[in-house]
This record gives sequence, C-alpha cells and structure tokens, in this order.
Amino acid sequence: MSSGESSASTPPNPAVRVESLRAQVAHHNERYHTLDDPEISDADYDDLARELRALEAEYPDLATDTSPTGQVGGATSATFDPVVHRVPMMSLDNAMNRDELVAWADRVVKGLDGQVPTFVCELKFDGLAMSIRYEAGQFVQAATRGDGTVGEDVTANVATIADIPHELSKPSGNDVPAVVEVRGEVYMGTSAFERLNGRAIAAGDKPFVNPRNSAAGSLRQKDPAKTAERELSFWAYQLGDVDGGPVFSSHADTLAWVGELGFPTNEHVQRFRTIDEVAAHCLHWQDHRHTLDYEIDGVVIKVDDPVQQDLLGFTSRAPRWAIAYKFPPEERTTTLLDIRVSVGRTGRATPFAVLDPVFVGGSTVGMATLHNREQVAVKDVRPGDTVIVRKAGDVIPEVVGPAPANKRPKGSVAWEFPVSCPSCGVLLVLPDGEADTRCFNPTCPAKQVAKIAYFASRGGMDIEGLGEQMIEKLIDADLITDAADLYSLTVEQLVALDRIGATSATNLVDSIQASKDRPLQKFMRSLGVRHFGPAASQALAAEFHTLDAIMGRTTEELAAVDGVGGVIASTITEWFAAPENRALVERFRDAGLNFGDPEDAVRAAEAKALIPQSLEGQTVVVTGTVPGYSREQAAEAITSRGGKSPGSVSKKTLALVVGDHAGASKLTKAETLGVPIVAAADFEELLATGAVPGVELPEPGAGEAN
Ligand code: IVH
Repeated sequence: MSSGESSASTPPNPAVRVESLRAQVAHHNERYHTLDDPEISDADYDDLARELRALEAEYPDLATDTSPTGQVGGATSATFDPVVHRVPMMSLDNAMNRDELVAWADRVVKGLDGQVPTFVCELKFDGLAMSIRYEAGQFVQAATRGDGTVGEDVTANVATIADIPHELSKPSGNDVPAVVEVRGEVYMGTSAFERLNGRAIAAGDKPFVNPRNSAAGSLRQKDPAKTAERELSFWAYQLGDVDGGPVFSSHADTLAWVGELGFPTNEHVQRFRTIDEVAAHCLHWQDHRHTLDYEIDGVVIKVDDPVQQDLLGFTSRAPRWAIAYKFPPEERTTTLLDIRVSVGRTGRATPFAVLDPVFVGGSTVGMATLHNREQVAVKDVRPGDTVIVRKAGDVIPEVVGPAPANKRPKGSVAWEFPVSCPSCGVLLVLPDGEADTRCFNPTCPAKQVAKIAYFASRGGMDIEGLGEQMIEKLIDADLITDAADLYSLTVEQLVALDRIGATSATNLVDSIQASKDRPLQKFMRSLGVRHFGPAASQALAAEFHTLDAIMGRTTEELAAVDGVGGVIASTITEWFAAPENRALVERFRDAGLNFGDPEDAVRAAEAKALIPQSLEGQTVVVTGTVPGYSREQAAEAITSRGGKSPGSVSKKTLALVVGDHAGASKLTKAETLGVPIVAAADFEELLATGAVPGVELPEPGAGEAN
C-alpha cells in the first residue's frame, strides 16, 4: 500500500478513537486483502493504520493482542481452499521518509552490536505476494499470503502464468532440492493493464482501477482459463520452506540461485554500504518509477547477510532485517464538488473535475481531468461523489472513478455534457467518429486565451509571467487580441492595469522581447497548428532552416521530410495558405521574431560535404548519457552522419546505444525486437564505421538473420 501523510493529533478521547480506528482498519483490510475490492486509496488506509499505531504506542494500556496493527494482511475467503504456510509469510514495516529509514538503520546496527551491515535494495513491486511450492522439482502448489499463517490455494490459476516454471531448472553444480518454496509478487505490467482496460472499455465494461487490483481480481477467478487471458507476470524475491538447498552467504546470491531455477528476478537489485547511499537510491526510484513497465510503490531494503538476518530476527508481523521505503501516494480519495468544461486552443471541450483539494503525487490537487464526454459516462462520476484521484509523475491529475465506498448523494443524476460552449455560447459539436467535442467558433474567447498561453508556454516561446490569468487581463483591457500583439506591449500600458507593479510590468515586457530570439523550431511550434508538434518543427527547421523556405514548399515536399508525414504536411500548407494566418506571420516578422538564417542552409550543406555519411538512412537510438556527449550532441553526431535518432526503438533500429543511468524500457524493447545493443564505449566506432560493433553480418546467402 502506498504511504500517506500522518494526520495524527491527540484526540479528546483516545480509547474511543482507537476503537473506531481498529474497526476501520479491520474493515479495510478485509476489503483489500480478502475481497480485492478496496473502498479507499492505499494512502488513506496508511493514514488510518499509522494513526492507530501511533496511538497504541502513546497509550500502551489500550494495546490488545487482536489489534489489526499486529496482523498481516487479511483473512482468507471461502472460494479457495486454505493452505497453512510452513514458514509464516510476514509483512514489512514501512519507512515513509528519510528519517524513518535512518532510524531503522540505527536499530539494525544496534541489534548487530555496532556492526554496520551491507544493505541490498530491491524494488517494491505493487502486486500480490505469492508462495510457490515445488517438490522433486515439480510445481505442486501456489498460495496467497492470507493472514500470514493461512493463505488461499490458487494453484490452478497461478499455473497459467507464463513466468512461473512448471518444472525447476537445475542450478549450476547442484541438484534441485527436494522441496523449494519460492516467494515473490504476482503483478500485471502497465502495458498489459492498458490492453486489458482497452478491451474492457471497448466491450462497454467498467475499467479496472489499477494494475494491482486487476492482478488480484485475475487471480481470484474461479475459472483458470479467465486468469490465463489476463497477462500476469511474476518477480521472485525470497525463499520460504526449502529442504536440501545450498547455504547462501548473501541475499543477492539467493536471488541469483532462484534465477537459475528458472524464475524471473528483477534486474534492479543493488548493494550499498551506507544508509545515505540507500536513501539516494530510494529517491532515484521515486523519480524514475514511471520509466518501468510495471508499478512499484517503494524500495525494499534488506540486510544482505543471512547470518545477520538471523541475529536480528522478527517482530510479530515483520522482519527486523528489512524495511519498505514507501513513495508518496499517487492516489487519494476526495469529494468531487463539480464537473465543468474548459475549451482549449483547438476548440476541444474537456470536462474536468473540481475537487475538494487533496495532497496527492507530491502536490495539492484541486482540479483533475475527466478527458472527454465518453469517459465521464463510462466512469459514471457525479458531483457529490467520493472519487479516486490519481497523479502519477508529471502527468495531469485525473479522476480514476468513484471510490467503491462512494456514498452517492440521494437524487443525484448522471452529469450531462453542456450543449453550448461555456465561453462563447456557440453550439458544441461532437464530430462523427471522434472522441472530443469541439467549439468551432473561430473567435471564441477561451480559444484565444488558450492559443496565446500555448504560444507563451515553456515548450514554445517560454515567456515567463504570461499565464492564462494575465492573458485574460490583457484581452479584457483590449491591449491584445492575439500573440502578435504581445510584442507591442509597453511597461506604461501594463502599469496602468489593476494590480501590476512597475517591476512585474518591466519583467514581463523584457521576457516578451527576449522571446524574439527563440530558435525557429520553438517559434513554429508556438503557432499552435494542429498535429504540428515539437518533433515535426525540429525536423522541418533542421531541413529547411528558414520559415520562408518552409512556407514556400508544397505538401509533398514537406511530407518527404523524415518525421513529418502526409497529415502534418497538409495541415501546415493549409494553415499557411489561409490569408489571416499569413497576415499573423507577417506581423511576427515585423515584430522582429527569428525566422531563421538563410546562411544556415549553406553552412549545413558545407558541413555535410565534410562529414562522412556513415549512417546514411540508418536509425540509431540512444538511451542514458554517453560520456563526453550531451543528449543533443549524441543525436547531432548521428544526424550529421546521415542517420536518424528518434526517441524510441523499433524493428528498423540499427542499434540501441546504452549510456549511463539508462532506463530499462528501451533496453527491454530492444531485446524483445532483437535490436543489437551497443555500449557507450563503442559509440564512436559505430559513428565512424556505420556498423554495429561486435555484430557479425551474415554471409551472403547464409539464410535469414535473426
Ligand atoms: S520481501 C518477510 N521484497 O511487500 C517479508 N516484499 O509490504 C518479505 N513486496 O508482502 C517480503 N516487493 O508482497 C519483499 N522486493 C520485495 C517486494 C516485497 C513487494 C511486497 C510483498 C510483501 C509486502 C509487504
């Protein structure tokens, strides 16, 4: 479960509060562990459990043996047979921040009489703990954790998971032990989850809330054939009951052995000597969790030496030799106060939720997107509902759906999409076959504000201090009607406006003037032509060097540029053909914006003649940083040799160059597609020769290359 902010403050009657918290925690334990149907977000659950634990620590008289804080997971259900775990399946204690992590490490060192252990860090996979038992090398049983002592027999369902071997492989130099119980996490990968939800939505079914719940639901199917359809996966991370196995000198060795038996073990396992390094590693994964194709909700830190693990032992629910560092929550429950519609620069009318503000994904969220008309209908959220809000990484916060415990206000009716534009009042249109409803009024004020905001945004002309509110103010004061008007604004005009001081006014005028020198591709992108994004602007600027050269080309000539394509090319030529757009462009020229330097074309041709075109027509993808090159320089080194350097791997990729701090996703894709992988040290050889170092080309006529 994900972490939460502790909301504990001393209640007037602690005994009453403790009793109420125990009832709530026990109830939510059952919903989560037994019924796979949680009513509240993980973070909200964690808040309740932490408040209860804090009160029990503060008032030891109120402690009882039966408190849910002393128990692991939930009870078993009646659907599956019970399985008694020969070695109990424990839970993990949590550290919600660096201080709690350091406090745990201090306890460990104390427990080891001052010895500082080596720590081994693994990712904390967000799925379901599973025990998988083999006798004489054959898969005989799979069981959930249950309450830690008794789990549920899900053998038939787990047998359908491709990652789980039916027969163990022989580990090097050893026989397979008589009994091996491997423990790990059954999970659903993010792309498998998206495929599943895509199918659910297409069939008119309610989508699943998150990969963990869908993995849990998939395992609980009565019919194993249903489980088999669900693309479940497995990471092994621990041994349970083993009879006749080797003695290991580290947890890392144990994992390597489990891998030899035929189990998938995760590649991101790292050992550290200090807790400072461990903390830095945890923060790294907190920032990079979304580079993985599976969900993680923290990092698990274990003492690496099994002898030291034995010395430290267990509490009633968890080992003292391990802790889970939990990431801040990305999902929360809150009240949906209202649903409104905003109109963007292309006229798209997007429904969004006004929320009772809630701290999620590292910031307070008061508004969240509902994407489009159909999504509101499928999710069936209504004002007054309790909803789950999700904010993952840099993604715009979204309403996932109603919380299962939603107490819908009596008499609430399904929300209706408005008939007319909330900004200009013109009728909204849902074009045939499209998901988005649009306002087609060219002079709609909301569209105008959004267009100028897009022009000024970070990815475009990057004009600091020019947000939507300021733009509305400038339009209301009749100082501007479009982006070109920005360049004639004066400090005096701004100061005359309500609540704009001389310093802010000067800063704004300065940043508007500074934006005139932005590179051509940024300026082109800022024009906000539909389908015309950063990649196409970059490609056209690199090919033609000036806006006049681009405006002078035909659709076919533009479409021939790599990364542009027919749809983008025709939208661009149509846009430049419209007299009002041509007039706007000329006003930008008069204002002195950077239209590109014709000399650049000459220089580029000369440079091309000098650099051997060793990668002509080839695609090379770079992931991570290649020592000695910035990201841009590495791409430039490839393109200046006639190659392409897109951001993703495909079947056509000649090679994937792997630099420092590379994420796993491109590597995994390259491996899946059989694309050769080149170490950063061999990058220059690849540039010079255009051949992949270490890969031998097949003899002519030697049959199919693989
Ligand atoms: S080790 C004695 N390692 O987290 C407990 N658990 O919150 C040994 N989990 O029940 C557990 N990733 O379901 C371990 N790399 C990992 C894990 C992991 C996820 C889960 C597991 C456990 C829960 C505790």
